[in-house]
Amino acid sequence: MSTNGSDFIVVANRLPVDLERMEDGTQRWKHSPGGLVTALEPFLRSRSGAWVGWPGIADAEVEAFEEEGLRLHPVGLSAAEVRDYYEGFSNGTLWPLYHDVVAPPVFDRSWWESYVKVNRRFADACASIAAKGATVWVQDYQLQLVPQLLREQRPDLRIGFFLHIPFPPVELFMQLPWRTEIIRGLLGADLVGFHRPGGAQNFLWLARRLVGLEPSRGAVGVRTRPGVVQVGDRTVRVGAFPISIDAAGLDAIARSRETQARAKQIREELGNPRRIMLGVDRLDYTKGIDVRLHALHELLAEERITAEDTVMVQLATPSRERVEHYKQMRGEIEQVVGRINGEFSRVGHPAVHYLHQSVDRRELCAFMSAADVMVVTPVRDGMNLVCKEYVACRYDLGGALVLSEFAGAASELTSAFLVNPHDLDGVKNSLYAALTVDPAEGRRRMRALRRQVLTHDVDRWARSFLEALGSASPN
Ligand code: ADP
Ligand code: F6P
Repeated sequence: MSTNGSDFIVVANRLPVDLERMEDGTQRWKHSPGGLVTALEPFLRSRSGAWVGWPGIADAEVEAFEEEGLRLHPVGLSAAEVRDYYEGFSNGTLWPLYHDVVAPPVFDRSWWESYVKVNRRFADACASIAAKGATVWVQDYQLQLVPQLLREQRPDLRIGFFLHIPFPPVELFMQLPWRTEIIRGLLGADLVGFHRPGGAQNFLWLARRLVGLEPSRGAVGVRTRPGVVQVGDRTVRVGAFPISIDAAGLDAIARSRETQARAKQIREELGNPRRIMLGVDRLDYTKGIDVRLHALHELLAEERITAEDTVMVQLATPSRERVEHYKQMRGEIEQVVGRINGEFSRVGHPAVHYLHQSVDRRELCAFMSAADVMVVTPVRDGMNLVCKEYVACRYDLGGALVLSEFAGAASELTSAFLVNPHDLDGVKNSLYAALTVDPAEGRRRMRALRRQVLTHDVDRWARSFLEALGSASPN
């Protein structure tokens, strides 16, 4: 145990920055992908905490270092561990299983062994840097064994766990050969948090069924009425805490003259179409990028819209590129983009602008400011931050949001054009409705959306979780 270690530690699979090896052998740090980092980084910087995580490439030997007030503690992974723990068990087993089995999960015993080993390494790293009585906040599905492993070594710590992806229906979770180990791992925390009450409820049911505990039976509320379960002499709380974004920060970037000028320029670069539709996602099969492209294809084919009038921009961050489902999906999406462009583009005026790239925050705000319709159509998503980012950027009350009912955010953003991504006609009709919405009706919807997003920001999410964790009984 460290005598003057850190009092507040976030532990996540990735550090907020990723190491990149350049072709000339040099290395540089870049911003890590994904919603977890987007949400937690601004909050943690404001608290000067420590962050334990993987630097993003195999076999990197990096010492702990300071970065703009944050203390970063790298945990190394070998190439075999990247394959088995990260690409394998985390993203070939848990990710599809927790996202409603939209792709078949693979159950591989050697992947599980690697997951246990790496979780132990993360727990050891936290145990060695945490001050006495420190708070450790464990993040996401890659580290579900850490709460228990850490508690075994450091019963003095206050341990929280938050799951950033959906927690599946119990019938699906029960497929997992290591289901009991995962539930026991999470029960090492003082507070286990999910985006939605349904996830918390599923977890409580599994604690009864798999571990033989007696959880509370009342309905879990949003940020209120957590469930409780007694584990020996400890009380574990189980609650729902919908994550959000730094809404005021994005609002300020969107209002700046530079962003507005860039938004205008983007529109010009796209050939000044009457309407711009935008998609922004990690290139992931859960995000329903194919759904929106098929809808666009049919709308163009039926001449309800034309490519002169309406263009689509899809920004897709490369993600998990060596995992089989991801390779396959990338091929499929690029084929549909090619097909739409082949059929409907004119020279110099593509119908779909597809960028397999990440753009920086200011550029993203400019795209969102320029977009008349933001299209967010996941077949399953724990929360989805992109839709909240769009709303935060639209201080002008312009733009329309098309949002899947299967994103956690749908229960908060009820004034969006909500769609069932499995219903292609429904998606087409909603896209069309959003493209042609009466301006007054559009403003009414956007005002309601902004009221929700600006008052429920990431700071409120983190405070509500940590307050609930603080009220967990001390050991
Ligand atoms: P996930 O965590 O599954 O990736 P979220 O919607 O919760 O999904 O968060 C994604 C985050 O990554 C958002 O902050 C979004 O702005 C960012 N992002 C996604 N795609 C891109 C892109 N092409 N360029 C820049 N940022 C992106
Ligand atoms: O919650 C979604 C999430 O899986 C995060 O845990 C992760 O940081 C992000 O998406 C990006 O995924 P990856 O770290 O696999 O690139």
